[in-house]
Amino acid sequence: MSSIDRPEQVKVTYRTRFLRIGAKRAATILLLLGLAAGAGAGGKAALEGDPFRGREIFDEKGCSRCHSVWGHGGTLGPDITVAVIGKTWYELVGDFWNHTPRMIDEVAGRGYAWPTLDSREMADILSYMYYLRLFDEPGDVRRGADTYARLQCSACHTLGGSGGQGGGPLDGFGAHPSPVPLAQAMWNAGPRMQSEQLRRGRAIPEFTGHEMADLQVYIRAEGLREGREVELQRLPNPIRGAEVFRAKKCGVCHDSMRGPAPDLNRSAFSKTVSEITGLLWNHSYAMSSEMASSGVPFPRFEDGELSDLIAHLYFLDFAGDEGDPKQGSVVFTAKGCADCHQGGVDGVPDLMKVLHRTDRADLAAAMWNHAPQMHSLMAEKSRYWPKFEPDEMRNLAAYLRSLVHREGS
Ligand code: HEC
Ligand code: HEC
Ligand code: HEC
Ligand code: HEC
Repeated sequence: MSSIDRPEQVKVTYRTRFLRIGAKRAATILLLLGLAAGAGAGGKAALEGDPFRGREIFDEKGCSRCHSVWGHGGTLGPDITVAVIGKTWYELVGDFWNHTPRMIDEVAGRGYAWPTLDSREMADILSYMYYLRLFDEPGDVRRGADTYARLQCSACHTLGGSGGQGGGPLDGFGAHPSPVPLAQAMWNAGPRMQSEQLRRGRAIPEFTGHEMADLQVYIRAEGLREGREVELQRLPNPIRGAEVFRAKKCGVCHDSMRGPAPDLNRSAFSKTVSEITGLLWNHSYAMSSEMASSGVPFPRFEDGELSDLIAHLYFLDFAGDEGDPKQGSVVFTAKGCADCHQGGVDGVPDLMKVLHRTDRADLAAAMWNHAPQMHSLMAEKSRYWPKFEPDEMRNLAAYLRSLVHREGS
């Protein structure tokens, strides 16, 4: 029996490995283990797909028999975390599609059934793949030391027994593998920290790239703590994050784009947790004065709120841009779809007649589920499998949706 058939066993292996690898990769490995634990409770599903359900479906449908996630899992197909970097909905759908012929052969060759997905499952899996890229590689202690020195945190804080006064000790933050609790405390203390900085005539610290992740491992390494216990955070949940966004009234400025507040749709795109914490922090001073003048109270975050909010911001661009149906109709012909679907070929449905749903998850699922049939038909006709550039799938989907509209009207 392979380990994939027995999830408990896989978990045990990860745990022992975790102990061996030590704390450095803790965040990553524990994420893998804990992913399902973040599921459950939470607001209405505002986004298409639930990454936590997607994680389960990925196992249930046997995807993990061939694909690894962060190096754990099957090796026949590419590691999913590497393959899906920075891709939004349609790019992911295009990616699925481009690789289906080989997948169909591999699946059939091993005697597995083609893993069909209904539209909800498709949305869940896509959102899981998108979600995976939110997480950082573990930070780097040496770079963290540089950041700590450059931003002069030690002027007002102590760490490992040395440093200046005014801000209190930072050692306790070392208990967390994730930089989010540190970022949350910094955010909440922001106004006080800022006035102290102004009083001392110091520049306000700004973070670039993954510096928050580096700073976090530095604090973990240097901090004086009783035990070396790791305090795990709940995983960032985009569905709950949408609630936080509403509750903290972020939309007052950002939804209306009133005044100088920028459109957030692409702000967090392709960024990781630590980059997003840095982004929020860097803008927090300008935002807090804007808040003061608009009468919005400066929001404080508790428990997992900042973490969930980060996931919400990250997911704002999941859908990507909508395509153009006119260009999609050109794609439909250029990729040979029209040869079968408008060519009166036996057994091939007229899409205008069979497509009843406009939902893009439905379309993506329909194409995925029928791929093996299309593949064998195409093999008979010795056609090549049409591959898609990122924009093409988006445009094709817009065209297919326009067919549904036309039929409906
Ligand atoms: C029997 C093995 C097998 C199974 C099961 C399988 N795949 Fe694959 N998958 C592959 C192979 C092999 C490739 C590479 C194909 C290629 O290079 O053209 C691939 C490619 C992919 C890619 C594209 C990766 C890239 O490099 O861009 C995605 C996305 C993907 N698979 C998702 C899934 C999902 C989701 C499932 C479950 C519903 C699944 N796969 C099930 C073998 C499999
Ligand atoms: C000019 C002085 C100053 C500098 C420089 C400074 N801080 Fe602070 N920091 C403060 C003050 C003042 C507070 C508020 C303390 C309080 O209210 O108890 C604070 C609060 C914090 C808190 C919240 C502490 C808690 O227990 O909730 C964190 C975390 C923090 N700072 C991290 C940092 C980091 C990381 C740096 C370097 C990037 C930094 N600070 C640089 C003065 C400073
Ligand atoms: C009172 C108005 C206001 C409110 C409320 C507000 N913001 Fe902002 N936000 C701004 C302004 C103004 C900027 C630009 C600041 C700057 O340029 O540094 C900004 C910048 C940002 C950025 C950086 C965007 C980018 O692409 O550079 C993010 C992310 C952000 N806000 C998130 C939030 C979140 C999350 C909330 C709720 C907790 C929130 N904002 C509440 C006014 C507001
Ligand atoms: C070689 C012929 C052939 C080609 C080329 C072809 N298809 Fe299909 N397609 C089929 C067949 C056959 C079915 C029906 C499969 C079934 O009934 O399960 C189908 C079904 C579909 C469906 C599902 C319809 C439903 O029932 O919901 C969609 C969507 C679709 N095709 C889109 C496309 C697109 C987009 C292209 C071009 C990239 C394409 N097809 C190219 C033969 C083809």
